[in-house]
Amino acid sequence: LEQTYIMIKPDGVQRGLIGEVIKRFEAKGYYLRALKLQNVEQAHAEEHYIDLKSKPFYGGLVKYICSAPVVAMVWEGKSVVSTGRKIIGATNPLASEPGTIRGDFCIDVGRNIIHGSDSVESAKREIGLWFPEGLAEYKPHIFPWVYE
Ligand code: GTP
Ligand code: MG
Repeated sequence: LEQTYIMIKPDGVQRGLIGEVIKRFEAKGYYLRALKLQNVEQAHAEEHYIDLKSKPFYGGLVKYICSAPVVAMVWEGKSVVSTGRKIIGATNPLASEPGTIRGDFCIDVGRNIIHGSDSVESAKREIGLWFPEGLAEYKPHIFPWVYE
């Protein structure tokens, strides 16, 4: 089954939205494979957002990610990468539909509370970067109740 890297950014943590985010992924039927609350080193944030290095907002983005703890998570399930992006909503919260996380809880693109991998390839890279120790192993009991 597919896995994605989901991260509640410092603003989401500070604003008390950890439970709200987890609730939405959990209720959908996806299941959690890893989770930690951690402060982020500058070099680690730079590596995570390496593809955006040439963007004018890169420096501010790295500073933002390092400004308070983040919640790093791996979620698993069928099409979780693309469906996770739908649950999150468009990058700019003013363009995110109501009912999505960004559409419901934020306003500025530079304070958009959550990250989700944009492809299966990115997810593999990001999971390796954030969870070099590996993931939790278990057999979710919801499986036959979610999948035909
Ligand atoms: P992530 O899930 O966080 O990767 O967002 P995304 O995939 O929807 O967008 P993208 O990867 O293009 O950008 C990564 C992050 O950079 C966004 O989530 C924003 O926090 C930030 N960002 C993107 N565009 C802008 C911008 O124009 N201005 C500012 N200030 N931040 C931006
Ligand atoms: Mg992205």
